[in-house]
Amino acid sequence: MEFKETVKSRHSVRHFSKKNVSTTDIEEIIKLAQLAPSWVNSQPWKVYAATGKALEQIKTDYETKDRNSEKSHPDFPVMHRDDWNNRTQANMKQWRHEIVHHFTDFDEAHHIMSDASNHLNYAPAILFLTMPKDSSLWSVFDMGSFGQTIMLAAKDKGLDTIPNYNSVRFPEVLRRYLDIPEDETIVVGISIGYAEAAKINTYRSKREPIENVLKIRK
Ligand SMILES: Cc1cc2nc3c(=O)[nH]c(=O)nc-3n(C[C@H](O)[C@H](O)[C@H](O)COP(=O)(O)O)c2cc1C
Repeated sequence: MEFKETVKSRHSVRHFSKKNVSTTDIEEIIKLAQLAPSWVNSQPWKVYAATGKALEQIKTDYETKDRNSEKSHPDFPVMHRDDWNNRTQANMKQWRHEIVHHFTDFDEAHHIMSDASNHLNYAPAILFLTMPKDSSLWSVFDMGSFGQTIMLAAKDKGLDTIPNYNSVRFPEVLRRYLDIPEDETIVVGISIGYAEAAKINTYRSKREPIENVLKIRK
């Protein structure tokens, strides 16, 4: 796929089909992502790919915890949306507004988005990205570069993704089934697979006008 096309066609897929992702594809994607830059080539990343039975067990435990209304506790703290700065808060509000309008009404949007979340997007595979607990703050930048390269490499192969907070809400479950050591921070889950033909996947998020983002001084 042409580079610009790959970047433009990547978007978050929230309902995956049952079609599995091959081990070869996962290996090739991660190998490409390893070419991402990092502070003094420190390469803080590790990837735990949950597929098959391991992923089924994770999904079942998450469903139980959600049924018991257990409070989420991801390794990275989550800031309440009212505490974000005005500009990013406005962008998030706009996103929620667009999602509701993509569907018939709030109830349908809420039902479909919750169903997707509750089933971890029906993903056939989730790549859990970790970094050492004793990392520099700079390593978070490295993890972002690595994650985006994963998502673009996946798109280049015709695979879809979504980076996900939702799948890392209960780290102890992931540690149990994926043998993730305590001295690693679970940063994010990237669900990967093939998009289901579902309305939720036809939504495309918008971006701010470039003049709000780019300041060039001559
Ligand atoms: C760190 C991170 C966590 C995210 N967590 C979720 C999530 O839990 N649920 C969800 O539906 N989308 C999640 N997203 C996807 C964003 O909503 C999405 O990237 C954004 O709206 C832009 O849309 P696009 O990815 O389709 O371009 C997350 C994205 C990032 C980068």
